[in-house]
Parts: sequence; C-alpha cells; structure tokens
Amino acid sequence: MSTTTLRIEELDDRVVVTLSRPSARNAMNAAMVGELHDVCAALEERPRLLLLTGDGGTFAAGADIGELRERGRDQALRGINSRVFDRIARLPMPTVAAVDGYALGGGAELAYACDVRLASPSAVFGNPEPGLGILAAAGACWRLRELVGASVAKQVLLAGKRLDAEDALRFGLVAEVAPAGELLKRAHALLDRMARSGALALRLTKLVADAPGGHPIADDLAQAILFESADKRDRMDAFLAGGRS
Ligand code: COA
Repeated sequence: MSTTTLRIEELDDRVVVTLSRPSARNAMNAAMVGELHDVCAALEERPRLLLLTGDGGTFAAGADIGELRERGRDQALRGINSRVFDRIARLPMPTVAAVDGYALGGGAELAYACDVRLASPSAVFGNPEPGLGILAAAGACWRLRELVGASVAKQVLLAGKRLDAEDALRFGLVAEVAPAGELLKRAHALLDRMARSGALALRLTKLVADAPGGHPIADDLAQAILFESADKRDRMDAFLAGGRS
C-alpha cells in the first residue's frame, strides 16, 4: 500500500498505522481519509487487529482546517470523516488507539471510533469545533456520550472542556495511561492479549457488543456459530487437559 500521510506496518495478526503529517500536527486531509479507507479495505479483506497512533507527539489535531474552510453543504452531506470513522468502528477485529499528545476534533473522533484507547500523560482529548463555527459531526456527539456519559460529553462538546490523560482515565475514556516511551509497548501487550483469543470469537463478540439495544437472538446465533467451530473444541480440550491459555 503506497501512502503519503500514513506509515503502515503489517504484521501477521495486526496492522500498525501511524498518522504522519507532522508539519500539520497530523491534521486529517482528504489524502489521509483516502488512505484510511485503503487500510479499512485491507482489514475487511483480511481481518486483523488494528493499532492506530500518531507521529511526533501528537495523535491528530483534527480535520485539516484549510480543507474544511472550503467545504460546503454537499461535502458535509457526504460525511467525509464520519464515513471513514464508521468504517473503522465496524472493522471486523478489535482496534486500539494509542494517543500521545493532542487528539482534537476529528482526531478525537477517530480515537472515539476505536474499541479501546490508551494514553500517554500528555494526551489531550477535545472537540473545539463550535469555536470554528461548526459541530463535531463525525461521531463525537453520540460516541463520546456512550463512552463517558452525557454530563462529561456535554462539557467537552458545549463548553470546550479538554480531557487530559488523568481525566480520560477517570472517566473511562482510556484503559490505561503509560509513559510516551512505553505507550506502543503497552498497546502491543493489550493486542497480544486479544490475539490469544479465538479470532472468530473476538470478531463475533465485537459484532454483537456493538449491536444496539438488547439483542439476545443475535448473541445466540453468534454463539451457535462458535459452538460448531473446531477452535472452540480445541481450546476447551486444551483447558480440560490442563494446558491453560
Ligand atoms: N488543520 C490544519 N493545520 C493544522 C491543524 C489543523 N487541524 N492543526 C495544526 N495545524 C498546523 C498549524 O496551522 C501549523 O502550521 P504552520 O506551521 O504552517 O503554521 C502547524 O500545524 C503547527 O501547529 P501549531 O498550532 O503551531 O502547533 P502547537 O503545538 O502550538 O499547537 C494544537 C497544537 C493542536 C493545539 C493547535 O495546532 C490547534 O489548536 N490546532 C487546531 C485544533 C482544532 O481546532 N481542531 C479541530 C478541527 S475541526
């Protein structure tokens, strides 16, 4: 995959994507959105775990304001950022965002679209969009509420509150805070734990966990698929034989 705004490392069980436009604090321009779509296409084709991070001590400073300024109603209706974030949220296998430094605007929304977030002590999440005369339309207005509750979400969305790493940990937005130098190691350790589970079990768990409302039938159907898998029998045989995984 040839890219100009992302660095991509493909491993057997995971893909590591680094947002890399350091001169613009990794602001997401159209090229980056296109390249993220290419990453999604590759992960839909061959499901693997995803680790997303940013270059140069910043996760991402939002959508590229130079491009945003020129967009009108029709571009907004195309959901340029919301569609790629939704695609990331619906990737078959779990996704982890490792956030060092600023995750603002669309950068924050990208992190919200991941399944789990880790932060360095310098992480800052915020949605300053109303200050630019627009709203955070790529998921913050509903994903953030699901992640931290309406009270905190409205402080971020309406009062410009920025969540530092300590806030983010306290509100459950991030799973862990680790020194910047260890952040990727911790993220890989988390992905290693995930990778030890059955791949199909993880995939179906993510699918049903993201289904809205109560969904016992979907859970039963997913379980029925897993109960027929050789992987389930092998894992349970190994447990019963004493080889704990
Ligand atoms: N879009 C386009 N360019 C951006 C950008 C964005 N979202 N965020 C930063 N940049 C550019 C700056 O214009 C600057 O470019 P220049 O060197 O050509 O002047 C460069 O990145 C460095 O930014 P700077 O503001 O000097 O860095 P900083 O470390 O002082 O501050 C931020 C970092 C992230 C706090 C600050 O850049 C910022 O507030 N960015 C905008 C955040 C935002 O409102 N995002 C929501 C967009 S919807």
